[in-house]
Amino acid sequence: MGVQQNNISANHNSIFKLKRLYLQSVPAGSIAFDGLVPVGKVDWGFQDHLFNTILSKDATAYRPADAYTRRFLKFLIACLESNLAEDEELHDSILTLYSNLMSKPDSPSDATKPTFITYLLPPNQSLSQEDDEKDGEVQVVISERKSVLSADGHTGSRTWEAALALGEFFLFTPSPISKPIPQCRILELGAGTAFTSILLSKLGAKRVLATDGDERVCEAIRRNIDHNYCRNVVSASQLLWGGSQKDSTVYTEPWDLVIGGDITYDTRDLSDLVLTLKKLLVANQDTGAKAIISATVRNEDTLREFDTELSSAGLNFKVQDIGESGRQLWYYGSDTPIRIYTIHWG
Ligand SMILES: C[S@@+](CC[C@H](N)C(=O)[O-])C[C@H]1O[C@@H](n2cnc3c(N)ncnc32)[C@H](O)[C@@H]1O
Repeated sequence: MGVQQNNISANHNSIFKLKRLYLQSVPAGSIAFDGLVPVGKVDWGFQDHLFNTILSKDATAYRPADAYTRRFLKFLIACLESNLAEDEELHDSILTLYSNLMSKPDSPSDATKPTFITYLLPPNQSLSQEDDEKDGEVQVVISERKSVLSADGHTGSRTWEAALALGEFFLFTPSPISKPIPQCRILELGAGTAFTSILLSKLGAKRVLATDGDERVCEAIRRNIDHNYCRNVVSASQLLWGGSQKDSTVYTEPWDLVIGGDITYDTRDLSDLVLTLKKLLVANQDTGAKAIISATVRNEDTLREFDTELSSAGLNFKVQDIGESGRQLWYYGSDTPIRIYTIHWG
C-alpha cells in the first residue's frame, strides 16, 4: 500500500471514530479531537469527507440534539483550524452548520427532552436479513434521556453502562452459549431502553422479547423497536419479577437465553429477580438455557446478596470481571467495575 493510500485509510478510520463518538453524543469536552485529524495537514478533502460522513443531512437519519451538535462543532472547528495545512481554509458547510445552530435558540424543555443516541456497531457484523442499514453500517438507535434519573423519575429511559458492556460481550465473545445467536430465542428482563435486545436482533437472533416491570418503559421500547425496524424479531411486554404473574406466557414460551443489564442494584428486588430467573431456567432446562446478566459493581454487599440468593435457589453461576478490553467500543462515562454472570440450572 502506498503512502497516499495509507493516509486515505487512516483518515477514513479517524472519521468513522469521530462519527461513533458524535452519534453517541459523547461529551465533546472529553473527545480527543487532536488524535483524530491529520496533524497540520487538514485540507478541504478531509473536511468534505468528514462533513458528508458525519454532519450532512444525509449522513444519519437520527441526528443528536442541536445543543450537542453545536458543542461538538465548537471543539471540532477549533481543532480543524489549528491543524489546517498551508493555504487551506475551514470548510464552508461546517461553518454554516455551526452558525445556523448558534442562531437557533434552545427551548427550556430541551434539557429534559429525549434525544436519539446512535450506537454504531463495528463494521462487518453479521446482519439480520431484514436490516435496512445502508453501506453495511449497522447501528442501534435509542431514544434516551441522559440524566441519571430521568425527568419522569425512572431508570429505564437511558442505556446504562452494564447494557453497553453486555452488548460488547455478545459482539466479541465467540460462543457466549452453546447455541449460536441466530438460533436463539432471547428474553430480556428489566430491559429499560432495550438496547441489548435490539443489538441481538441485529446480530440475527431468531426471536427477542424485551420485558420491563414498568408499562411506560415498555411503550418506549416499542418506539425504539420501530426506530430500528426490527418489529419482526423484537417485541416488548410488561413483566414484573417475582411470583405475581404466574400465568404470564413468558414462563410457557421456550427460551434459549435470558439476559439482563444493571438489574441487580436494589436488594429489595433480588429475591424476586432470582425467583424469575429460576422459573425460566427450570422451564427451559431441556434446551440448556442460560442467563447472562451484567452487573455494575456499585456496592459489593448488594452483589454478595445476589450471589447468596442464586446459591440458595440452587442456581449455578460463574462470574467474569469486565476489564478495559471489554469496554472499548462505546463511551461509558464511568469506570465503575462491571461483572458478567452466566447462570444455569442443573
Ligand atoms: C437500571 S435500569 C437498566 C435498564 C437496562 N437494562 C440497561 O442496562 O440500560 C433497571 C430496569 O429494571 C426495571 N425494573 C426494576 N425493578 C423491576 C422489577 N421488579 N420487575 C421488572 N423490571 C424491573 C426498571 O423499570 C428499569 O427499566
